[in-house]
Amino acid sequence: ARKIWLTRHGESEYNVLKLIGGDSNISGEGEKYATALPKVLEARLPQGEATPLQVWTSTLKRTIQTAQHLPFAKLRWKALDEIDAGVCDGMTYEDIAEKMPEEFAARKSDKLGYRYPSGESYMDVIQRLEPVIIEIERQKDSVCIVAHQAILRVIYGYFMAVSPEEIPRLSIPLHTLIELTPMPDGQMSVQMLPVD
Ligand code: F6P
Repeated sequence: ARKIWLTRHGESEYNVLKLIGGDSNISGEGEKYATALPKVLEARLPQGEATPLQVWTSTLKRTIQTAQHLPFAKLRWKALDEIDAGVCDGMTYEDIAEKMPEEFAARKSDKLGYRYPSGESYMDVIQRLEPVIIEIERQKDSVCIVAHQAILRVIYGYFMAVSPEEIPRLSIPLHTLIELTPMPDGQMSVQMLPVD
């Protein structure tokens, strides 16, 4: 059966420094994840079938590097790039709380609707991902999407019928392969596969 795999990029240099946004490289731990991923994924492919599989990444280095050892056809989508944090790109959450307390409070009280100055909101991201989601639904092949925290909250939330308000707080951990299997009744079965 067809599957949809979702994974965040391996740990990035910005993740280590707790900086948001940017276009940093993956860290040593991130590279370990990238190296482990082909075997983890291959173990999930239906045995004995030549399963066509496409790997979709964003245009940011950390997803391209994470997918680099996967021996499948690849596609880069700008629409899969992480939420644009605008003027807060490259800051920590502590920096924002300290230097822009009103912005910090506004985001906390309405994480779905809050738009970063010169950047995006989750609502904006939901809209920008619409063509990607339509394309996932149209695909007959299995697809493995290597993307980012906010992006995968939206895609996972869509397939799992999570209410929009809950989407920005879904947990999408690093170094975990999320496997979605469409069931005959239209439901999705989900398996979280942590990779140590
Ligand atoms: O911290 C990693 C990251 O992908 C940032 O680039 C991004 O701004 C953030 O996660 C999104 O998560 P949240 O919406 O919880 O801030």
